[in-house]
Amino acid sequence: MVKNMDQKHFETLKSRFNEYVNSFRDNDGNLHPMMQLKYEHSQRVANEAREVAAALNWKEPELLMAEIIGLLHDVGRFSQFQDFQTYCDSKSVNHGCRGFEVLAKSDWLTRLSQEENHVILESVRLHNCHRLPTTMAKDLRLFVNLVRDADKLDIFFVLNNAIEKDTLKNNPEIIWDLPQNIPPSPAIIEDLRYHRQASYENVKSQADFCLLQLCWIYDLNYAPTIKKVSERKIVDRIVQTLPASDVPKDAIQSLKQFLQTAA
Ligand SMILES: [Fe+2]
Repeated sequence: MVKNMDQKHFETLKSRFNEYVNSFRDNDGNLHPMMQLKYEHSQRVANEAREVAAALNWKEPELLMAEIIGLLHDVGRFSQFQDFQTYCDSKSVNHGCRGFEVLAKSDWLTRLSQEENHVILESVRLHNCHRLPTTMAKDLRLFVNLVRDADKLDIFFVLNNAIEKDTLKNNPEIIWDLPQNIPPSPAIIEDLRYHRQASYENVKSQADFCLLQLCWIYDLNYAPTIKKVSERKIVDRIVQTLPASDVPKDAIQSLKQFLQTAA
């Protein structure tokens, strides 16, 4: 499937992305801290995608595709934040669709094949959707599933890091400015209990946000991703951020069993 992608095209695309991000810098050369967060997130997702793909024994052209899709997946975040001052899609735009538009309007992908264009554009558009289309070409599915895994791995890191380093006060937008000290919604606890993906509409508090992330673990696609989640003790780290009374212990136990079986 991957025809034209090579190190040279990869480097060119990386430069175009960096130039695009630079266009959001102020006169002193600084990005808004929330955009800086997404810029660093994009780079880490690129690395995660490459690492997971490498663990799956994908070949070098596919690894480059994996890495570039990881880098570009949130390209819509920059104009989203500039236009709406939020990363909450329901209060602004779907950032996957916004990213698709940014790329479709650009000339970044012209040197790649039509199929490569399609896979990159659709992977960006679909990386954040609640339910993937049931019919997708096999190659597209491989990359969409990969970037969704890599994205989740880094969002786990960003959330844990912000809570553990207590930086949410300065950057509350990381969790959409959601209030703390509110018990989780019963609907999200049920979703976790029944291995369903929680809906963003039900997220009303920091606890909901944390439980929604735990639901994502059931949506992971590749064994190397699940292994990373286990090794990084993501479940324990997220659970530790919740008051003991807010922890649905049966659901957490079941999640840990899932991880042991799947890793
Ligand atoms: Fe995203």
